[in-house]
Amino acid sequence: MPAMIPFNRPCLSGREMEYMRAAVENGHSSAKGPYTTQVQDLLRSKLNAKDVLLTTSCTDALEMAAMLIDLEPGDVVIVPSFTFSSTATAFARQGAKVRFCDIRMPDLGLDPEHVESSMDDKVKAIVTVHYAGVASDVRRLRSIADRYGVPLIEDNAHGLFADHGGQQLGSFGRMSTLSFHETKNFICGEGGALVLNDEGDRGRAHILLDKGTNRRQFLEGQTDKYTWQGHGSSFGLSDLLAAFLLAQLESAPEIMAKRRNVHQTYMQLLEPHASHLNLGLPYQHPGDTPADHMFYVLLPSAGIRANVITEMRHHDVNPTFHYVPLHSAPGAIELSDRLQPCPVTDDVSSRLLRLPMSNDLQAADQERVVSALVEAVEANSVTAV
Ligand SMILES: Cc1ncc(COP(=O)(O)O)c(C=O)c1O
Repeated sequence: MPAMIPFNRPCLSGREMEYMRAAVENGHSSAKGPYTTQVQDLLRSKLNAKDVLLTTSCTDALEMAAMLIDLEPGDVVIVPSFTFSSTATAFARQGAKVRFCDIRMPDLGLDPEHVESSMDDKVKAIVTVHYAGVASDVRRLRSIADRYGVPLIEDNAHGLFADHGGQQLGSFGRMSTLSFHETKNFICGEGGALVLNDEGDRGRAHILLDKGTNRRQFLEGQTDKYTWQGHGSSFGLSDLLAAFLLAQLESAPEIMAKRRNVHQTYMQLLEPHASHLNLGLPYQHPGDTPADHMFYVLLPSAGIRANVITEMRHHDVNPTFHYVPLHSAPGAIELSDRLQPCPVTDDVSSRLLRLPMSNDLQAADQERVVSALVEAVEANSVTAV
């Protein structure tokens, strides 16, 4: 029997264990150690950022972002409905209400038209997600945010090292966040980063990460002791995990090339079937460097997805659905300031199917995935007619 093709398979790039051993042996495995510094320097220079702080997750980086923009009760933050719960919860935890906006075809990013018509004086920030590492209309969103004098924040959990029109994703907003969760392109189990593009946020961001203290100033010799300054938490990533992550990031060109290859192979295998099966294939902006974070298809109808998943699993292939819309989820009743329709989110969310994706996925396995998909869609489309 063929082995199950898992949805995701975390891949080592080579030096992870060596670096982790060194992190233990050099006696600094807690946050802000030497590997953390190397990773932060690498990311800062690649992203042309003012500062990068490694965090325990993208969720934590989003929480820090929400703390940095000083939200007050009654404030509203615009968030796409088609995203992970953390994108919304981070801002709701700071007392704001979330206003969900729709996404648009074909990039599945936040719809600037809907954002524009949802703006009022309560809105204190706009948060955009670059779904699958494909840029949302970040320039237009930035110009709306600037016109209203509110920050744009990029939840860039999927898009590290992708660019849009030659500019790195994550560098358009006042700040952006990254994820190094085991399902992402670059991993360390659980991890994230807050990317600061505004010098003015650096001081407070370090206090937030250092449990509310000015420990950074102490470590840099600017004060003889460190003291409690205010809000903060234990947001810093262990240096053990930063060591693992450094090995991954040093292999970024190879990892990105492998993912590009997997993406292109799926496209070549699926293009001949897309039209007669009425399958939507993933969109990428021409000329952009993509992150190739995931490969999804849009099925012809929502009604067949559960059967397609079950039948593909019978062929030892494990696809999965993705975000359940936030605007109609139970959490929205309490945490959203008003419930507005998001029809594109509803439609995409009900038809989207993510195919197995990992750096080392082999072409022969991709052929198995595609033939299981084609067979299942054909069988169910016939039943549906
Ligand atoms: C868009 C988006 N933001 C944030 C997160 C949360 O990331 P983490 O698991 O690193 O907290 C996810 C998780 O996949 C995500 O898809």
